[in-house]
Amino acid sequence: MGHPVLRERARPLTPAGLRTPAVQKLIDDMIDTMREYHGVGLAGPQVHEGLRLFVALLDDEPDESSDVVTLVNPEIVPAGPAVEEGWEGCLSIPDIRGMVPRHVDIVLRALDRTGRAIELPLHGFPARVAQHETDHLDGVLFFDRMRSMATLSYLEEYSRYWAKGDEGE
Ligand code: NI
Repeated sequence: MGHPVLRERARPLTPAGLRTPAVQKLIDDMIDTMREYHGVGLAGPQVHEGLRLFVALLDDEPDESSDVVTLVNPEIVPAGPAVEEGWEGCLSIPDIRGMVPRHVDIVLRALDRTGRAIELPLHGFPARVAQHETDHLDGVLFFDRMRSMATLSYLEEYSRYWAKGDEGE
């Protein structure tokens, strides 16, 4: 937090740009970084690349065995009226948690890392992760979405007083 790229709108990738060795290597490096820090998502601006892509584990209960999905030029459309508060954190804001309202059901449209168009209906925690990561591409951080700062917590206090709910990224 504090690096200007985290607050900028990231640039879309062309299919040709996506297929370059440099961008494919960036994706591999982002996957390694996300795994190393036990994250569930990592967006381009978080590694100081202002490109519209993120990598994520879009499972209900992600762990080391979850498949990594790469989403390029993602667009999110809410698929229902439900909005739910849930805990989130962010690798760019270490050891902080807060309750963030997100759409419960969304459709995520994007390209995969080969440039193929994909459309994913997502519900609950994976929908939350996709919204958090797509926000990064517009320079939005999770506490910008909080209705109140009252739940903003250090990880230690979160673990002591709150840790039962979901935890994003
Ligand atoms: Ni984040």
